[in-house]
Amino acid sequence: MDIEFVREQFPALKRDFIFMDNAGGSQVLGKVIERISGYLVHHNVQLGASYKVSVEAGEKLKYATSKISQLLNASRPEEVVIGSSTTLLLRILSLSISKQWTKGDEVIVTDTDHEANVSPWMDLKKKGIEVKVWKVNPETLELELDDLRKLLNNRTKLVAVSHASNVLGTINPIKKIAEEVHNAGALICVDGVAYAPHRKVDVKELDADFYTFSWYKTYGPHLAVMYGKYDLLLKLDSLNHYFIGKEEVPYKLQPGNFNFELTYSTLGIIEYYNEIYRRHFNPKKDEDFQTRLTKTFGLIASHEEKLASILLDYLNEIPEIRIIGIPEAAAGRRVPTISFVHSNLKSDEIVERVDGHRIGIRFGDFYAKKLIQALNLEEKNGVVRVSLVHYNTQKEVRKLISIFKGIF
Ligand SMILES: Cc1ncc(COP(=O)(O)O)c(C=O)c1O
Repeated sequence: MDIEFVREQFPALKRDFIFMDNAGGSQVLGKVIERISGYLVHHNVQLGASYKVSVEAGEKLKYATSKISQLLNASRPEEVVIGSSTTLLLRILSLSISKQWTKGDEVIVTDTDHEANVSPWMDLKKKGIEVKVWKVNPETLELELDDLRKLLNNRTKLVAVSHASNVLGTINPIKKIAEEVHNAGALICVDGVAYAPHRKVDVKELDADFYTFSWYKTYGPHLAVMYGKYDLLLKLDSLNHYFIGKEEVPYKLQPGNFNFELTYSTLGIIEYYNEIYRRHFNPKKDEDFQTRLTKTFGLIASHEEKLASILLDYLNEIPEIRIIGIPEAAAGRRVPTISFVHSNLKSDEIVERVDGHRIGIRFGDFYAKKLIQALNLEEKNGVVRVSLVHYNTQKEVRKLISIFKGIF
């Protein structure tokens, strides 16, 4: 991958600082920044009016949501729900969908997920919904399909699970999980926040019923998106004003509307993926967008695997270190979000000693509190997490290792 080209696209990367807390938030593309200011300068009006600028603004946002739907490989733009954060979108979904559930209905959550895909479902207990927990195998640090099968039954309404854990970095086999869930007559709601910055999201291929992620972790602004299958969204109760009908998908789930300039700016991300493709491959006329995207993310995945292998090879050699996740770099099994603990040092002690070197890494539970509890890592103050993305370099990873060498 042409790393110089990639880094040039991110104005913040010109600074003398190494960003390795990308699972917390990635740096923003110049193309995104340009579109935010362009929209505000030229089209900052209320939508839906008959005057020229309002009509143009409406067309621009319609275009942006149609491109987002293409990015996700959704069937139609109405399947794209925009919101300020994944946390809010999942809360909206739980409030809306549960209006049609009754006492004794069941939901399954995991103990590896970020709370964004746990609390909205847990809170339904107050309504008499039973919430079951699909627990991580503490030995393999994986969610086992057999354990899920034991929890599913004919009262299960929905299974909430993440595509990748923001602590373990492990990729869950969503397609297989969706098959099990659908066989049981339930729906699957996927948190793709820790996955989407690294791999292509294809909601059709996954057969996900609902799928969310946050743009600020995929090189864009503080905004999020939730995909929902059209017929399912149509059935949901509206959370908008009484005069916004049930058929008004997705507006009924976007009370107060979405942020226009930020939504428009996501076009910059899609264009960036296209540019990576054009830069590295010989564009063929008959190659469709999905094929191009697959190639782009293939490049990203192999670059990330290389970065992860450098760090993991080093960490795996240190007897005091335990990787919290899969200890191999294999791009098909994990993303380069790498967490570990040290037997003699607390996680905050390690991070504090890195802070002075102009490198951003982080310690804690990362709101995956139930996972940190399940693994008894609270007394370590959680894990040390180094979260890499494709704009990180081998040199940066080696610099971090040289600093680690002075600590343990
Ligand atoms: C896996 C995962 N899910 C959900 C969230 C919440 O996303 P948002 O900040 O958009 O609510 C995060 C944020 O860190 C996350 O890492």
